[in-house]
Amino acid sequence: MTTAAATNRFGADPNDDYLVFITGLRQLWPVDLTQYRRGQMERRIRSFAGRRGVTHLPDYLQVLKGDEDELHRFLDHVTINVSQLWRHPEQWQVLHKELIPELAAENRIRAWSAGCSYGAEAYTLSAVIRETSPNTRVQITGTDVDRRIIDRAKQGRFTDADAREAPQDQMKKWFDHEGDMWSAKPELRFGMNFELGDLLHTSVPAGSYDLIMCRNVVIYFNEDVRDSLHGRLAAALRPGGYLVIGATERVATPGPIGLTPTHPFIYRKA
Ligand SMILES: C[S@@+](CC[C@H](N)C(=O)[O-])C[C@H]1O[C@@H](n2cnc3c(N)ncnc32)[C@H](O)[C@@H]1O
Repeated sequence: MTTAAATNRFGADPNDDYLVFITGLRQLWPVDLTQYRRGQMERRIRSFAGRRGVTHLPDYLQVLKGDEDELHRFLDHVTINVSQLWRHPEQWQVLHKELIPELAAENRIRAWSAGCSYGAEAYTLSAVIRETSPNTRVQITGTDVDRRIIDRAKQGRFTDADAREAPQDQMKKWFDHEGDMWSAKPELRFGMNFELGDLLHTSVPAGSYDLIMCRNVVIYFNEDVRDSLHGRLAAALRPGGYLVIGATERVATPGPIGLTPTHPFIYRKA
């Protein structure tokens, strides 16, 4: 039942404890989890709450309201911040050999790492552009919905585990190695910027970017939400710009939004 009479003050069916939970959660965190695939998200949330001995989700909401540390642990779990430097190396090869040389013809590359997590993708991109085309001006914006992860991205520090697939010569060239941490050198950071941003609502002026990487983010979204986002990302690209997506993702209807597939999981804007 989802009639008005059957909804509580949050507008959610009171018999559906998941909906009550994610609707109430918006008082603590502004992201609308109704836009995310329910099966996957619900399993994650229930197993996390279950490990704390809570099975009725509205009870867990009360726990989160009273315990900020628990709220942060919960949000870390929900946002799934997994990333690494040079993740999916085949795509970086395509960027290095084909896309960057083509885009660098303009002497400037404006790129967006959308759903950037702690910045591994954005710093990798900065290294790959500078290595491929040293004289190109680099502007890279990383955005994520998770405020704490954006603070981490600004630090530009990565573990040995983050660097496990990265080329060692590139790590040594662009990062300082101290203990088991790699810190981005100033010349790698130059032109990089990280901001809080919710891709469910984001709208950027048409043609703002030459390259957008939005990888391993939309897998969590409902299909219509994913398709709407891909439409907005395509609009944000200039003609001839590229969209790079994750290796388990797809753009459902590239043609109508002006995209043509050029390589696996890479599209060019007409
Ligand atoms: C698995 S990480 C992907 C990181 C990076 N793109 C990569 O492929 O390595 C997914 C990121 O998407 C972010 N995310 C989830 N929903 C989002 C939203 N609505 N807006 C912006 N970022 C979001 C999460 O916070 C998380 O950091």
